[in-house]
Amino acid sequence: MSNNVEQVERTFVAVKPDAVKRGLVGEITKRFEDAGFKICGMKMVQATDQLLEQHYEEHVDKPFYEGLADYMKEGPIVGMVLEGVHAAENIRKIVGDTSAKDAHPSTIRGQYGHMSMDYADEAGRLYKNLVHASEPGEQEREIEIWFEEKELHDYQTAHEEETR
Ligand code: RTP
Ligand code: MG
Repeated sequence: MSNNVEQVERTFVAVKPDAVKRGLVGEITKRFEDAGFKICGMKMVQATDQLLEQHYEEHVDKPFYEGLADYMKEGPIVGMVLEGVHAAENIRKIVGDTSAKDAHPSTIRGQYGHMSMDYADEAGRLYKNLVHASEPGEQEREIEIWFEEKELHDYQTAHEEETR
């Protein structure tokens, strides 16, 4: 029997270097805040090979990995830990499909991304898609890679204080 308590969890998001350079940190963060997610940690980081090999461990041996790592090191990223109901699954809905061609226009990748992944591969170009968001099941592993415990904050939002 259901106990009527929804699963509140934390997930990891990174605003990738192309979005930082395009001045989209505020717009992207706003999407998550507007959807009710609580920011528990946030920082600008220059990714390194060591961090990326851990973060993208499922992709390290794939042909696109070298290009992906070059892209992720092109400039700083903004990492965030967001908390909310089914956060990993729901944040990935807001982010949209990996390729902008398939991403719904209401999603971040659908709104701000334009190039298709197939074109990028054929043209030998890096595929830039603005945001990373953990897949369900991967979020705790990824949070530990990018954030120390003391960088994550427990606090009550105004809404939580009102309903206490
Ligand atoms: P992410 O991990 O960054 O949130 O993206 P995702 O789950 O939607 O996609 P994933 O399959 O995990 O791929 C990670 C990132 O690698 C780049 N990529 N390039 N050229 C290619 O064939 C290719 N495939 C993947 C993209 O930047 C993708 O977001
Ligand atoms: Mg992924």
